Amino acid sequence: MQKFLSWPLSIDIDNQEYKGNELLAKKLSKKGFNALIKDYVYISPDDVKRYFKFIPDAWESFKGNGVDLGSGVGCISATIATKENVKQIYSVELVESVVKLCQPIIIKKILNPKDRNKVISVIGDFDNLKLKDNSINFAVSWFSMHHSLDPVKTFKEANRVLKKGGRFIFADKFHNNNVPDSEIERMLNIVYSEDFLKKNFRPAGINLTRRENGEHEYRFFEWEKFIKKSGFKIITEIIIKTDDPENRMIKNDNELCEVFVDFAVGGFGNRSIAFVLEKR
Ligand SMILES: C[S@@+](CC[C@H](N)C(=O)[O-])C[C@H]1O[C@@H](n2cnc3c(N)ncnc32)[C@H](O)[C@@H]1O
Repeated sequence: MQKFLSWPLSIDIDNQEYKGNELLAKKLSKKGFNALIKDYVYISPDDVKRYFKFIPDAWESFKGNGVDLGSGVGCISATIATKENVKQIYSVELVESVVKLCQPIIIKKILNPKDRNKVISVIGDFDNLKLKDNSINFAVSWFSMHHSLDPVKTFKEANRVLKKGGRFIFADKFHNNNVPDSEIERMLNIVYSEDFLKKNFRPAGINLTRRENGEHEYRFFEWEKFIKKSGFKIITEIIIKTDDPENRMIKNDNELCEVFVDFAVGGFGNRSIAFVLEKR
């Protein structure tokens, strides 16, 4: 029987984002592994591994003890735990039912019995890690940092728990620097379609905006500003995109190298930014 750690939360969970993920966990966990991968993670464990191997300095940074921030159903944590030189990974997720109902299904499928206890499932808040200063070798996050209410605070918390020279590898969505504030506002004010509501088991006809659902939309300069303020050094900053006509056409305006891959990256437009950060 898998055990779960429960760390005190420092944020309010009475919101649409929490309720939505709770609903997804309850419904999808009944359907099993494939449904969780398809409708919560949007990328398979094999492709997660391939993704990290495309980022210079990322895959080899996963060694020793780590922490996955906003780990959802635990697919990223479990995939990283398949590495022999990874000892343990704290899989920290806010939503209790996501941890309790979904993580065991994912961990059981991805890891051999002898390795399953390498993933420590935690109901917790990535702004309030119950880990000692300078105690962890690596941190990772997959499309969760844009859900932070205060990215500088979250990055500082990751920085605090890492050992000197420890790496924080994260992937997330991005927008070009030239996207105006008015467009960012427009995106956040979009009301979800009936199709989205149905797919996410929400009641039909509700008026739910992307902002109310915990979304934030960051441009390159904003991600870089958050990182700078938190004290990390950028080792790698790279774009990883699914190879499709739209992604070939849209170029980044931050002079970043773009890697095109033959699998669905997930997230907005199947394109992502990936960072390898280092604690100084
Ligand atoms: C887009 S999902 C990505 C989940 C996961 N990384 C994956 O790939 O399946 C964002 C996740 O971050 C979690 N989250 C949001 N705020 C959090 C917080 N303060 N602490 C921990 N997890 C949080 C959400 O509950 C959600 O599961």
